[in-house]
Amino acid sequence: MERVNRVVVIGTGFVGSSYAFAMLNQGVADELVLIDLNKDKTEGDVMDLNHGLPFAPSHTKIWHGDYSDCKQADLVVITAGANQKPGETRLDLIEKNAAIFKSIVHDIMANGFDGILLVATNPVDVLTYMTWKFSGLPAHRVIGSGTILDTARFRYLIGDYFDVDTRNIHAYIIGEHGDSELPVWSHANVAGKSVKELIRGSNTYQMEDLEKLFINVRDAAYHIIDRKGATYYGIAMGLVRLTKAILHNENAVLTVSTFLSGQYGQEDLYIGVPAIINRAGVREVVELGLDPDEQEKLHHSSELLKKTMNALDG
Ligand code: LAC
Repeated sequence: MERVNRVVVIGTGFVGSSYAFAMLNQGVADELVLIDLNKDKTEGDVMDLNHGLPFAPSHTKIWHGDYSDCKQADLVVITAGANQKPGETRLDLIEKNAAIFKSIVHDIMANGFDGILLVATNPVDVLTYMTWKFSGLPAHRVIGSGTILDTARFRYLIGDYFDVDTRNIHAYIIGEHGDSELPVWSHANVAGKSVKELIRGSNTYQMEDLEKLFINVRDAAYHIIDRKGATYYGIAMGLVRLTKAILHNENAVLTVSTFLSGQYGQEDLYIGVPAIINRAGVREVVELGLDPDEQEKLHHSSELLKKTMNALDG
């Protein structure tokens, strides 16, 4: 009997339902279970998605489930919780979402889950750390979406600036998925040529433009929320990318929120850095040689996250 991949999504709000839609369209899992407090919404989503199955690339069994479905799940994705309102930072959400997470993670683990947990709810770095603590799972099996979307935004805008396909851009955003994130310019390259090399002596490309570009990346969510009230398509596709790397055992390098135990000179926190992702979760952290300015910014970001966590402990 061929192995069946089951993914459970906790939360069918904008992000959770967009993730389910993207999973169906990309034919990633054999089984997709949707759980949410709003049972009518979830049942409606399941019906709506199932009616699209004839157009999907492969069959995905989708149903409105409950926490008992976590026992056989390979991956549980948590998108439940409050999202940013205009003018709110991600860290402002911590009080509301920490309380929700304690009960969600308890219910997942109480039903015998023994797979990989993927957290998307903000503030994702702090909530992923709490999920790790609440779950008792090994750190490499608790992953946050981290700066996967920020890195995608960064690569998209760099590609647009140099008029080169995004897939030929290698660049990372690391740190908090939030206002203290930072660009790793020292390792950013376009088709193998460093960005700094492309700027040097160019009459067309300016470092000032790239600094503005990074600000657009860092503040992208605010600009989108001001216009449409929430962000969900980009993060949903980033979560599907992560799901594929896990279920298909890809050993793909993705910037996720992962546990540091000394890497980058930081420890005992979850924060966004490049990591190799496969069926076991985080295989290893990719430790880039940061320049002093980048190292300092990453340390500042780490300290901010730790301060937020300590404030929660009261
Ligand atoms: C964003 C949300 C996912 O950056 O935090 O769009």
